[in-house]
Amino acid sequence: MGSELVIRIGLCQLQLLKGDITTIAVDAIVNAANSQLAGGGGVDGAIHRAGGPEIMHELDEIRSAIGHCETGSAVATGAGKLPAKYVFHAVGPRYRDGRHGEPELLASCYTTCLNLAAERDVKTISFPSISTGIYGYPIEAAAEIALKSAAAWLQHHAGTVRVVKFVQFSEGDHEIYRKHAANLRGTLAAETHG
Ligand code: APR
Repeated sequence: MGSELVIRIGLCQLQLLKGDITTIAVDAIVNAANSQLAGGGGVDGAIHRAGGPEIMHELDEIRSAIGHCETGSAVATGAGKLPAKYVFHAVGPRYRDGRHGEPELLASCYTTCLNLAAERDVKTISFPSISTGIYGYPIEAAAEIALKSAAAWLQHHAGTVRVVKFVQFSEGDHEIYRKHAANLRGTLAAETHG
């Protein structure tokens, strides 16, 4: 792995990977779900296919208890047959024009999942690029929000979650995440030495 793919924040790391999130072993995998928690295509479909029906059974119970999950929030289930203990089902915003709270709601997906992780003693967590598929969020803006939100969270919650993996499904998305990771690393280095 090239050095530009890892950002160290104290004892923690942000990592960038290209691949299928359902095949990467972690404590918690984040899903890009919908507020009905009803399953779908994209990464949601891949997670339910690979994890098996147990995950949807748990979501059925959650739905009957709370109805739905708000945009910007997330719920936790077990991970079925996935190589993880938990799946956090985060509901990203549908992109309109960026002026309907989309940046804050997207950032909230990342911080809510990291809070769920800390509550469960999760040390490693993987995120797909939430909202940038079917929900149409421009990948450049979304990548920056994803990386900055996680970095800020790790700076304020030292010693809980140790490794945050960002998994991109396409080479194009991976390149964009790499560019924003390099920018973020520059900013963090300037803060440390400035
Ligand atoms: N591993 C990693 N990333 C993946 C995978 C996978 N197996 N499959 C798809 N992706 C990527 C897509 O390429 C995209 O970059 O996940 C990102 C998010 O895309 P979507 O899955 O379409 O999620 P989102 O844009 O948040 O839309 C959510 O789609 O599937 C439905 O039920 C879901 O209604 C909800 C909506």
